[in-house]
Amino acid sequence: MTSGLRVAVVGATGVVGTTMLQLLREREFPASEIVPFATERSAGRQLDGLTVRALTADADLDGFDIVLFSAGGGTSRQWAPRFVEHGATVIDNSSAFRRDPDVPLVVAEVNPHALANHRGLIANPNCSTMQLMVALAPIHRAVGIERLVVATYQSVSGTGKKAIDELEAQAHADLHGMAMPAPEVYPEPIAFNVIGVAGSFADGDDHTDEERKMMFETRKILEDEAIGVAVTCVRVPVRIGHSEAVNVQTREPLTAAEAIELLAAAPGIVLEDLPTPLSAAGRDEVFVGRIRRDESHPRALSMWVVSDNLRKGAATNAVQIAEVLVDRDLVGASAPPQLAPRPDAQLAVDPPGVGADGLDADVERVGDLGV
Ligand SMILES: NC(=O)c1ccc[n+]([C@@H]2O[C@H](COP(=O)([O-])OP(=O)(O)OC[C@H]3O[C@@H](n4cnc5c(N)ncnc54)[C@H](OP(=O)(O)O)[C@@H]3O)[C@@H](O)[C@H]2O)c1
Repeated sequence: MTSGLRVAVVGATGVVGTTMLQLLREREFPASEIVPFATERSAGRQLDGLTVRALTADADLDGFDIVLFSAGGGTSRQWAPRFVEHGATVIDNSSAFRRDPDVPLVVAEVNPHALANHRGLIANPNCSTMQLMVALAPIHRAVGIERLVVATYQSVSGTGKKAIDELEAQAHADLHGMAMPAPEVYPEPIAFNVIGVAGSFADGDDHTDEERKMMFETRKILEDEAIGVAVTCVRVPVRIGHSEAVNVQTREPLTAAEAIELLAAAPGIVLEDLPTPLSAAGRDEVFVGRIRRDESHPRALSMWVVSDNLRKGAATNAVQIAEVLVDRDLVGASAPPQLAPRPDAQLAVDPPGVGADGLDADVERVGDLGV
């Protein structure tokens, strides 16, 4: 195994970035140095004994082996290829490169084999898709999946730090008999509420980008373009932890007892009677419960899937990918040196109205929601 790697975390002051720093330490990743990058605003800030550097034109990009990006799609598009040109292997947490056929989209427990052909850039899937894939890949491998019907219940941390602050400010005001501050991140108040749309709408699309990501990424990760995916993404007033009500229609018959047996033996899954986001927060596994037969169809099961969106949904998987790269000697030099993002791939993830402000398409903006 390689040791003494130089690692950078871009977006290190964000909710995902701070979790990445924590996980690199917790999992004793073999780093000789970890350099946190953020905007100029955060330059000089101390994060657990590390000094934050600004990612600006004069930043020194030389000498990094692995760079974890979690700073929005615009930042990834601008900076990730530059780090690759300087010899680093980049694991990107935004949606910037996920649709590029030359960029592996990897869930560590599901398709690590896809890393073998990386060309310097690797994409980390969307948080809602990530937990779904861990829960469903064993079923797909055993009997094939024909169609999925999913409703997500996504926590506010999925939208970043500003959204956590918005939930807390609204809840605090309401509990103290004051008027809630007007929503800025979401189109409606999120405290004591449920918003039946998570993500942004591209012009002319009646599904959000979150919903489109689950459709596209499911097929890419499971390497099966024939899987039908019907999904509704919903935002709920939970700090950390996404939940999903999943109905899975299989190609071959599978009983609930057989599904339980399969999932009990699969990596990264914990079976529980009733998983909740509160109990999943701070954990790295995907929690699956309420596995039962769908009596309306001869080959369908229903289940409830919960995971910490900041950990397995983002930071844990990114660090697990880095671990696989080290174990399989796939860091940097073993891969062809450079990959520039393809213009057509960018168009595919940045339809008009989404990501136009240079922020990440994963992060909702009120103006884009069209509701
Ligand atoms: N939250 C989730 O559950 C989740 C899951 C999967 C993927 N993601 C993706 O992860 C990324 C970050 O999400 P987050 O929730 O951590 O957001 P966040 O809390 O808002 O943090 C954003 C981070 O990006 C940095 N940043 C922004 N623009 C930058 C630039 N031009 N150069 C360098 N750093 C820059 C910010 O630095 P400053 O502090 O200096 O502003 C901050 O560190 C997004 O792409 C998001 O879609 C998030």
